[in-house]
Amino acid sequence: MNTIIVDMKAGIDEAAMAQAGRILRAGGLVAFPTETVYGLGADALDETASEKIYRAKGRPSDNPLIVHIAAMQDLYRIAAKVPGKAELLAEKFWPGPLTMIFQKQDCVPLKTTGGLETVAVRMPDHPVALALIRAGGGYIAAPSANTSGRPSPTAAKHVAEDMTGKIEMIIDGGSVGIGVESTIVDMSGETPMILRPGYINREMLEAVIGEVGIDPAISGADVTARPKAPGMKYRHYAPKADMLIVEGTEKNVISYINTMVEKELREGRMPGIIASEETKDHYVGGIIKPIGSRMDELSISRHLFGVLREFDEQKVSRIFSEAFDTPVMGQAIMNRLLKAAGHQVLEV
Ligand code: TXA
Ligand code: MG
Repeated sequence: MNTIIVDMKAGIDEAAMAQAGRILRAGGLVAFPTETVYGLGADALDETASEKIYRAKGRPSDNPLIVHIAAMQDLYRIAAKVPGKAELLAEKFWPGPLTMIFQKQDCVPLKTTGGLETVAVRMPDHPVALALIRAGGGYIAAPSANTSGRPSPTAAKHVAEDMTGKIEMIIDGGSVGIGVESTIVDMSGETPMILRPGYINREMLEAVIGEVGIDPAISGADVTARPKAPGMKYRHYAPKADMLIVEGTEKNVISYINTMVEKELREGRMPGIIASEETKDHYVGGIIKPIGSRMDELSISRHLFGVLREFDEQKVSRIFSEAFDTPVMGQAIMNRLLKAAGHQVLEV
């Protein structure tokens, strides 16, 4: 299949958007930018179209897709019970990096929901995404547009690496603003529960609706628990090299990583280091990547997945990463880093 790449970095190209809409309505696949990561879109109400997403990504069929909408009233056609608290959250955070889970209506195929009776819904905060959802009929299923297991794409070139020849179109909207996937909150039970941490954290949710739980499988409280979002159980974001997160005082972390880096270099290997703007000059060798500033959390989240992909290209022997327990997005960032590292963490 020939994959068309269209440039919408400077704004929406109406002719190309109309073509994208036709592709989606005919059951095809279009990758598009959102404020979190790039999505791989298909008509969510067409089960054959949804199936194509699983095939293009190599995604296990029990891992449900998020349905993206562009208008609040569209929620009621796919969600069977919308609690008042969900309406409050939607009012506050939509369009935005929040996904909510509801009991599904019959029109949503089980292929889209990975066989579940619930459906995940999100209204993204990106003009290209919203225009595409409207052009495609209003309900666009979209997982992150990466091959299953690889880091989520935060730029169109990442999508092209994974999806060229497998999908009809990639819309290039430039680099994303947030860089980690949306917060997922299950609204289908008694107490709303966070199933995946993202930019919108527990405190922000609780300020609007009161008590919100967090799935023990992702809070780190219980490493043996089975996550409630099926996708959270899979190996994810895994760079090809073995990765270790080093936690402790800045001085100890730098000194430990430097010792390890020197050892790798002595033995003829080239390690990579995930550093911050504040610490990058203190490392003595290896491929040092400052992912962002500790004073600006979004600079860190935005570059996280891209840095993991770059290390793959540069074929580093090992990756050493600082920990990033930043105030707002710390849980979201560390959740992705821990997965990338296969939970290998060292306290120094
Ligand atoms: O920011 C995002 O959410 C991006 C952009 C493209 O919108 N999308 C995204 O989709 O991250 P994906 O498919 O990569 O991740 C969706 C996650 C998976 O972990 C999946 O298991 C979970 O949401 N999920 C979807 N529907 C669910 C449901 N009904 N119940 C529980 N978990 C669900
Ligand atoms: Mg994903």
